[in-house]
Parts: sequence; C-alpha cells; structure tokens
Amino acid sequence: MTRTPLVAGNWKMNGRRGLAGEIAAALTGSLSENVEVALCPPYPYLVALGDALPAGVGLGAQDVCDHQDGAFTGEVSAEMLADLGCRYVIVGHSERREYYGESDDLVASKFLRAREAGLVPILCVGETLRQREAGDTEQVVVQQMMTVVEAAGAGAFENAVLAYEPVWAIGTGLTASPEEAQAVHALLRGTLAKSAPEVAAKMRLLYGGSVKADNAAPLFAQPDIDGGLIGGASLKADEFIAICRAAG
Ligand code: 13P
Repeated sequence: MTRTPLVAGNWKMNGRRGLAGEIAAALTGSLSENVEVALCPPYPYLVALGDALPAGVGLGAQDVCDHQDGAFTGEVSAEMLADLGCRYVIVGHSERREYYGESDDLVASKFLRAREAGLVPILCVGETLRQREAGDTEQVVVQQMMTVVEAAGAGAFENAVLAYEPVWAIGTGLTASPEEAQAVHALLRGTLAKSAPEVAAKMRLLYGGSVKADNAAPLFAQPDIDGGLIGGASLKADEFIAICRAAG
C-alpha cells in the first residue's frame, strides 16, 4: 500500500500577520508533488494564509469546537473552518489535553464533528515521559485512538490522519528514535487493522516531536511513518521546506 506522505506544520500560538505571506511565498515553487503539505496557523491568520498559499498546500486549524454553531462564546465550529477553506483540523493535541483538560471523549467528539463538516481530522496521540517510563506507552496511545473507534467505528478513520506525538519529544529537542516511533506506529495501525484492515492500510500516520531538517529523513523512511506533524520547525520556511523534501 503506497500512501502519499503528508507534512503538516502546526504553528501553535506563534507568528504574526507577516509570517503567512513570508512562508507562503517561500513554499511557492519549492515543494515536490510527491508529498502533501499543510499548514495550521492560529485562527486569526487562517484567511491570510489560505489566500497566500500556493495551490495544493492544505490549510488546517489547530482545534475545533465539539458543537455545531450556536451559543458557545469563544469557540469556532467545524463548519466555519470548512467555510474558510480548511481541509484539515488537529484534534487532541497534547497541549490541549494537558493545559485545557481535554479528555479522550471530548477529543473524539471534536474528531466526529470535524468529519461531519467534511474536514480531515488529524488526531494526536502520545504518552508523557512518566507514562513511557512506567511502560504504559502502548496502552495510552491505543486507548486514545480507540475512544474514537468506540464512538464511531473504525471506519471513522477513513479519510482521517493519526499523529503520534510523544509528549516528552514535543519542543524538547528529544525525538523518538526511528525504531521507537515505528514500533508505536505499527502498533496503532495493527490495532485498527483488526477491525478495518483496508482503512488501516490507507490511513496516514504522522510522527511529531522535535522533527527538524536533520532528523526527518530516517524517521520518514520507516514503513509506517507517513510524514510528520511539525511544530517549531514549521515557523522557519527553509527548515520546513527541507523537512517536506525529506518526506518525498
Ligand atoms: P515540535 O516540532 O516543536 O516539537 O512540536 C511538535 C508538535 O507538537 C506538533 O504538533
């Protein structure tokens, strides 16, 4: 099964208006057709970035409300994101789980809302350092994925993306080794394959956590790593382009 690699940049709460134009200009003409690329800026910059991005580069948001339009002050609906031209939305990022108390159930609701609006959810899973040291990595990441399966069936991962982001590797300069990451990716795909083998075979599984231009290639060379979810390095055009090139 060949899966087109995807490299998605997550700007987190960084950047100013000018960054959208700067990165979009740098990406124009610099990307291979063998890799899909997406950028997820903060909400206020979605429109500017969407207008500036070269054709073929996807726009994504970093979060979404679990409700449809209505009285939810401060929230943004999946339909609004679709209306602004988003193709992707990240759900369940570890920073949302850790700082805003998002539970597996809430994340599953967001995932399903995104799908209902025609968006491609990028579901983040990953263990903390404490969980890894306690030997709980497999149980934690499988549970995070299975909450969605239990809510909507394994078919919900048709046209969805899963991102394995070990929490201890995010923004720390530490990465999982290619072999460590591959082992978790193979476990996730294998678990999904038990109920939906075709969906599992097609699903793109991204690795995230301190991916840089100089460590991306061996990660992306693993059989079950289909690209990356890039934080800090997606704010620097040259670095991000080099990571995209490493994927295809
Ligand atoms: P860094 O690449 O900055 O470690 O962030 C990874 C991440 O959390 C992407 O969602």
